[in-house]
Amino acid sequence: MPDKILTIANATKRYGPVHALDRVSLDVEEGEFLTLLGPSGSGKTTLLSAIAGFAPLTEGRIDLRGRNISNEPPEHRDFGMVFQGYALFPTMTVRDNIAFPLKVRKRPASEVRKRVDECLGLVQMEDFAERMPAQLSGGQQQRIALARALSFEPQVLLLDEPLSALDKKLRADLQWELKSLHDRLGVTFIYVTHDQDEALSMSDRVVILKDGRIQQQGVPDELYKFPRTRFVADFLGKSNFLDLPVTAREGDEMTCRIGGTNFPVTAPGATASGDVLNVALRPERIRLGAPGQELLDGIVRQVSYLGERCLVLVDHAEVGPLMISQPTWKAEVTPKAGLPVSFGWDVDAPVILEDGAA
Ligand SMILES: Nc1ncnc2c1ncn2[C@@H]1O[C@H](COP(=O)(O)OP(=O)(O)O)[C@@H](O)[C@H]1O
Ligand SMILES: [Mg+2]
Repeated sequence: MPDKILTIANATKRYGPVHALDRVSLDVEEGEFLTLLGPSGSGKTTLLSAIAGFAPLTEGRIDLRGRNISNEPPEHRDFGMVFQGYALFPTMTVRDNIAFPLKVRKRPASEVRKRVDECLGLVQMEDFAERMPAQLSGGQQQRIALARALSFEPQVLLLDEPLSALDKKLRADLQWELKSLHDRLGVTFIYVTHDQDEALSMSDRVVILKDGRIQQQGVPDELYKFPRTRFVADFLGKSNFLDLPVTAREGDEMTCRIGGTNFPVTAPGATASGDVLNVALRPERIRLGAPGQELLDGIVRQVSYLGERCLVLVDHAEVGPLMISQPTWKAEVTPKAGLPVSFGWDVDAPVILEDGAA
């Protein structure tokens, strides 16, 4: 078992009637890349600020390696920070920006110089030491902000949407860089984003927030494959939502019906009671075939070509429209609007949701 570096227990933050955080309990493991993911207003920044010490909790506590730090000011916690609006000091050179946290900590000049050079190397910005921030692109400025946050070798690095102002290509490059930096340094990263792709691609573990509460947490693959609620299934990737009437049930094996067609569904540990399953079905788990090839019949309504795959919207008499994602390199049929097709899925493709009707 890895050690816990932070333990957050029942963290609650109220702003008047608003529950920005509502009884959030969370362990952060030493060295992990943990991402807080949620829509705007879900409490991500509030939680990060509480960890940093900028937003004292209304209730609950935060422990750092077993020591209660709930009432300690930010400077005693000594966490590195890269916030979206946490700009570089505009009148200082890149070198002085990175040196700043070290000078505040009264480190000797020789050490400061050496460490600044190391940090410039970490973010591949060795040639930019004497520039002013205004002479850097957005991506370069965020690299320097990262170098500054890492300069004093913090035990935890807190990042609040650090890439959100950058364009798509640059963001993707920096995601790789951040991840590789994390893996090399072994520092604990707590990363905030509202971007699901970013969360899935970089994190060891993702915590999904909504309305100040944790909805679900887990490693990316597990969260994506086994969302427990409609919110999670919808927020993390695309999903179709179906109500499947159960016609027979034997343990984990069920028979469901769509229109006149019966098909099996396995639902290990399903908590759904009653005779309707609310399921999420990922577009890439649905197979598209020629008419008669798969169990269900439909008509293509619309096709969207995305290069490596096609998104196909298929109408069916009872359910639908259903979104189907088909890899273009192994397409069984070339879908066109108006074309009759068939579709089906493996017994374990539908994921049974715990919450209400679809
Ligand atoms: N200083 C504040 N005063 C009043 N309400 C706030 C304050 N900061 C955040 N909130 C509210 O708390 C909720 C969570 O905000 P925030 O943590 O910034 O969300 P996120 O970062 O996920 O977008 C929102 O409803 C927001 O309006
Ligand atoms: Mg925020």
